Amino acid sequence: MAEAGTSNRPSLPAALGGEPVRSSPLPFYRAPIPPETLEELRATLESGWLTTGPRVRRFEERLRELTGARALVATSSCTAALHLALVLSGVGPGDEVITTPLTFCSTVHAILHVGARPVFADVEADTLLISPEEVARRIGPHTRAVIAVDYGGHPADYPRLREVIGEAGGTGGIALIADCAHNLEGRCHGKPVAQLADYACYSFYATKNLTTGEGGALALADPSQEERARRLLLHGMESDAWKRYSVEGGNEGGEGDKLYEVYEAGFKYNLPELAAALGLVQLRHLGRWHQRRRELVLRYRQLLSELPEVELLAEREWAEPAYHLMPVLIDFDSLGMGRRRFMEMLRAEGIHTSVHFTPVHQFHFYRQLMGDLDGELPVASEAGRRLLSLPLFPEMGSEEVEQVVQALDKVIGWAKG
Ligand SMILES: Cc1ncc(COP(=O)(O)O)c(C=O)c1O
Repeated sequence: MAEAGTSNRPSLPAALGGEPVRSSPLPFYRAPIPPETLEELRATLESGWLTTGPRVRRFEERLRELTGARALVATSSCTAALHLALVLSGVGPGDEVITTPLTFCSTVHAILHVGARPVFADVEADTLLISPEEVARRIGPHTRAVIAVDYGGHPADYPRLREVIGEAGGTGGIALIADCAHNLEGRCHGKPVAQLADYACYSFYATKNLTTGEGGALALADPSQEERARRLLLHGMESDAWKRYSVEGGNEGGEGDKLYEVYEAGFKYNLPELAAALGLVQLRHLGRWHQRRRELVLRYRQLLSELPEVELLAEREWAEPAYHLMPVLIDFDSLGMGRRRFMEMLRAEGIHTSVHFTPVHQFHFYRQLMGDLDGELPVASEAGRRLLSLPLFPEMGSEEVEQVVQALDKVIGWAKG
């Protein structure tokens, strides 16, 4: 630990008047914006085309190559992609969808939005990924889909999930949906997730591995669903604005004097052109950023292995994670302080942290809807009390990782007296 300057426990925390580890705050996340972004945005504005158009098509094509998907459509968010995946799976009222409680609330909201019932399966204690065995226990006659979440960027075990769905006699009738909000780049058993799940849903939200500010994508294992996916994400219309109004788009439209036809009550889930412009620039740097986050995680793991109070999550040998988050587990009760206080003390040291996630079943709305599920979901419930996400972003330096560990050591050392 001497390397990171953490050998002299305890020293007075900054929250109590001591010297902070850092004089300027280290944010939890800072999105890298390459310098050529402004040029790309200007070109987009000058093109005169702001809504979904040629840049979105190019972005989709590059994403399709990157994810190995057979078909892919850009969406306005991952939440939209999850909703579309459920609609395309034919999930509706009376159906059940199994998912993990350790996710962002919108994974579960999407299930409610199609009128189905969410069923939570607990997570594995060492990876915090949905447990295929727990999924198996919850498959019933009404199960129509399973949504796995690649928590922190580590892929769920899709081949095993596919097996348990098959063993339960659900092949064909139960869709396997991947919430890849954290995992654009990772691979599972040597394959990109889009080649293992029926649907893979990506997020390009402000803090994600690739950002378009807000945005997402839906990868489809069955390319024959692409047409309906495109229709659903734009009001159920058969012809998008690029086709309706642009000379290049061909001015295709509906029959007779109708410029377009409406086939169903779709949604407004399309990605605008400016967002795709951001995404196209980001894609050029994605590999380098992924590699950098991997190096930072390795450094964290090396240094944190010497802090017994900080538990690291396991990494499966078949996984190539996307390294989106750096979550750790800390027993705040044994330190005699709540997590909120712990985070405030780190903040006083100049280190900003976050929490991924409060398990969804513990939120007021879901407690009202489903009752107290802590007893049924012991692993996720316990992890939810102990999780802390450390700063991780590609422009972080190794010395900043060392400062985070130093601050953790300082606060923990002081708490333990
Ligand atoms: C696991 C997970 N799923 C879904 C989402 C929703 O993504 P979006 O904001 O793109 O809708 C998030 C966003 O934070 C997430 O972390």
